[in-house]
Amino acid sequence: MSKSMAVPPSATSAWPTLHISQHPAVLHKLAVLRDIHTEPKKFREVVRELSWLLGYEALADARIRPLTVRTPIEETQAAELADRIGLVPILRAGLGMVDAMLELMPTAQVWHLGLFRDERTLRPVEYYNRLPDSATVDVCLILDPMLATGGSATAAIEVLKRWGAVRIKLVNLIAAPEGVDAVTRAHPDVPIHCAALDRQLNERGYIMPGLGDAGDRQFGTGKTG
Ligand code: PRP
Ligand code: URA
Repeated sequence: MSKSMAVPPSATSAWPTLHISQHPAVLHKLAVLRDIHTEPKKFREVVRELSWLLGYEALADARIRPLTVRTPIEETQAAELADRIGLVPILRAGLGMVDAMLELMPTAQVWHLGLFRDERTLRPVEYYNRLPDSATVDVCLILDPMLATGGSATAAIEVLKRWGAVRIKLVNLIAAPEGVDAVTRAHPDVPIHCAALDRQLNERGYIMPGLGDAGDRQFGTGKTG
């Protein structure tokens, strides 16, 4: 018999900043992503499609300013994006989320952060950061498919806050309750947008049921036997 996938919705009331997409297209694509038989090419496609949908939801409160345009018929009032958007993919798995977000927000800046999780301690290790001295964007979207213990996300948020970023959002495909709890305790001002909140972590810090290792599945680097 299959095991329960998600925590019950009533349990999420402790995390007011958590937004779990309920869109049918998101749920459908998530099933493809989870499936062990989904090959890297298809996996990358679906990461991209889900990122677009989640990014669309996460940026619903981006600021706009009025603009006047002339249609072929007459002049009219319109709007343009006023916020400078920063995309912060966490290497390596977050890379697969960037292109879709750039389609959505073509003028966004992309600032890569390199973090990997030490397999033994499960603590994040920073290995790449070329942020300039002070923040150059109004809104930062941290892109990472997986929120597991929350160590990587918390570290990324701390880096961005030290940089001077004020409006920070986390965009994940799958989150674990442990990670949501860690991030919301440390950074209650940071909204979390995800496609699913799964049941729990296993003893190796992997999300159950999850999708396995998001980096390996995108880039075909998983152990083969
Ligand atoms: C994965 C994932 C997150 C992190 C989540 O990256 O992409 O960055 O683990 O785990 P946490 O919430 O417990 O910190 P990983 O360290 O496997 O690196 P990779 O993307 O290079 O494979
Ligand atoms: N990182 C992943 O890629 N998958 C998990 O389940 C947890 C951390």
